Amino acid sequence: MTASIDWLEETHELHLRTEGFSYVVAVLESGALGGVHLGAPLRGGVSHRGLRTGEFHGFANRVGDPVPLEYPTAGTGDYRIPALVIQHADGSSVLDLRYVSHRIFAGKGRISGLPSTYVESDDEAASVEVLLRDDVSGIEVTLSYSVFRDVPGVARSARIRNGGTTRVRITTAMSAVQDLADADWTLVTLSGAWARERHVVERTLVPGRQSVSTTRGASSHQHNPFMLLKRAATTEDAGEAIGLSLVYSGNFVAEAEVDSFDTARVRIGINPEGFAWVLEPGDALATPEAVLVYSRNGIGGVSDAYHRLYRERLARGKWRDADRPLLVNNWEGTYFAFDEEKLVDMAIVARDLGLELFVLDDGWFGKRDDDTTSLGDWFVDRRKLPNGIDGLAKRITELGIGFGLWIEPEMVSERSELFAAHPDWAIGVPGRPRTPSRNQLVLDMGRPEIVDHLFGVLSDVLGGASISYVKWDMNRNITEPWSAALPADRQGELFHRYVLGVYELYRRLTERFPDILFESCAGGGGRFDPGLLAYAPQGWTSDDTDAVERLRIQWGTSLAYPLSSMGAHVSAVPNHQVARTTSIGMRAAVAFFGVFGYELDPTAMSAEERTIVREQVAFYKQWRPVLQGGRFVRLRSPFAAGGNETAWMAVSPDERRAVVGHYRVLNRPIPGPDRLRLRGLDADANYRVAVWPAKGSETERANSGVRGGDELMSAGLALGVEKAEAAARGDFAATLFTLEAE
Ligand code: GLA
Repeated sequence: MTASIDWLEETHELHLRTEGFSYVVAVLESGALGGVHLGAPLRGGVSHRGLRTGEFHGFANRVGDPVPLEYPTAGTGDYRIPALVIQHADGSSVLDLRYVSHRIFAGKGRISGLPSTYVESDDEAASVEVLLRDDVSGIEVTLSYSVFRDVPGVARSARIRNGGTTRVRITTAMSAVQDLADADWTLVTLSGAWARERHVVERTLVPGRQSVSTTRGASSHQHNPFMLLKRAATTEDAGEAIGLSLVYSGNFVAEAEVDSFDTARVRIGINPEGFAWVLEPGDALATPEAVLVYSRNGIGGVSDAYHRLYRERLARGKWRDADRPLLVNNWEGTYFAFDEEKLVDMAIVARDLGLELFVLDDGWFGKRDDDTTSLGDWFVDRRKLPNGIDGLAKRITELGIGFGLWIEPEMVSERSELFAAHPDWAIGVPGRPRTPSRNQLVLDMGRPEIVDHLFGVLSDVLGGASISYVKWDMNRNITEPWSAALPADRQGELFHRYVLGVYELYRRLTERFPDILFESCAGGGGRFDPGLLAYAPQGWTSDDTDAVERLRIQWGTSLAYPLSSMGAHVSAVPNHQVARTTSIGMRAAVAFFGVFGYELDPTAMSAEERTIVREQVAFYKQWRPVLQGGRFVRLRSPFAAGGNETAWMAVSPDERRAVVGHYRVLNRPIPGPDRLRLRGLDADANYRVAVWPAKGSETERANSGVRGGDELMSAGLALGVEKAEAAARGDFAATLFTLEAE
């Protein structure tokens, strides 16, 4: 199957098709662009225009056609959530967009200044740009659509141009709006807070609007720019599901509206709350990209599509396909209290354990002994590191492992040289107190001179030492939004300009330092989104490293994001976030399903722990291609009633190797027999099954040996076989199985 787009001249219809997916739009009698179908593949070469006729009984609108609209506007009879609202010079906000032309081409375009999915050859995608115009105002909208050869979905974005003669203000500009023929969907979002990001939340659609959004300036811990719709009967591997994901790192809204006739409209894009963008005649604004995917194979099918696309055609650069290094990060091991000798001692042990990268976290710059000072002063603190970052990096790389560094470029401490020199660079309203948060302020990243400054000082840091990894943090949200660089009527542009500035700095630094692996972070997972994945192929999933909490965080995150994007570390116990004590085996068994590492002081580990860690490191290296690049299959949800169990697996692309993880939070007396059915294997292959690490348990005896893929998928692995042993293992237990085809 190839990705294709056909234009049916007789019916004025565009049909975008790829394996498992069709998307149809049509130019209506009125000239408006109408949505016809998003979903299961439909036959090419014939009209599907009649699909919705008679199904939609909304308002009697001027459009006069019952087919829903592709890019609805306010003020012409469509009272549902709009795609575009523009205030004209006279204060009115009426728009009536009509089809002008379209252009079909092979491949896919990029969006200037914004991250987006891409192709490496033109046969990977087919694209169409449809030009719409409001004749009265001269506003032009170009809707871009791309279908991918290898993913059942469509990438959408819009470019709004002021083709008129007076300035206008855009107050709403969605990336995608989608009308669905019915409202019998359950809405799934990823919501939470710091230390419990991206929990799965489900609700049945009801009449009215339901949404997740943020106004914090970052995609946020609270909600993720993602939503999924599923049928009541949809499971992980069967039934219909639709995903909407926004390639954006700032304020967003993902929303559904059910009207009085039980049709649903969904939309995703920049949050209109707090947004207003002025367009002078001739100016244009591009929206971020939205990626819509459709699956007939359950929620897992939606995740498969996002994993593949975001891992292979959103992430970029040398590290996209490379094995990600096994790292140790000093943060929870030392916090701010370290010196060169301490760090080198930690790195020596890490190297001896087989780790590949030592990361120095917060506290190396300015005079930063706690979080009250020095952000913005990106020069080394010689009290702690007398030989500079270069001296430390040299000693560590000479050990034979890489060296990485933490930065937080977008921030400034009031107690810093940078703030003393440029107090107006921090976001805030003159004459009003600034709301405190972690003793720091946010730089106005929309100002090019600030981006230039940061590029300069950070280039000096990164170019001045042997650095192979950067952790780019962002530890507070924006309050008192106001920019000294914008006139009063453009203050509504601040948040979007901020994000554009962050992307610009990321672009310049990643281009200047193509060999450095960037990991994004925002107080853990406060900005874990597709926008940053385009620059930083992995992100710090959460500050919460407790193994039990991580089950939910990693499960939820995996709905939209591949394992290769999820930083997952073993930390010390009692855990620093929840004070829970779990075994080092359980902690690793959870963190293996991600980009694995450690976040502790390796010198503090006992001899016994070091032996275990050495084995864990060796195990991860052996299975890294499967755990970072394989297909992730969710088996048992921690969000199911009770939430006591979780199971998941990663399968190599050729289905020859797999790792299965099963986790039980609390132990139960006399558990009954239980079988864990696997998925994604080759039914005809024979797999050698083993339990890791081998301890001669009853579970091992019950499962080890050569087993058919058919049997493993239809009957499964035996759990709960060892009553005595299960009692002995207590709470917080994990079992890992490895499968290798013979
Ligand atoms: C944030 C990050 C942590 C750590 C600290 C340092 O909270 O999420 O991993 O880097 O900042 O201050």
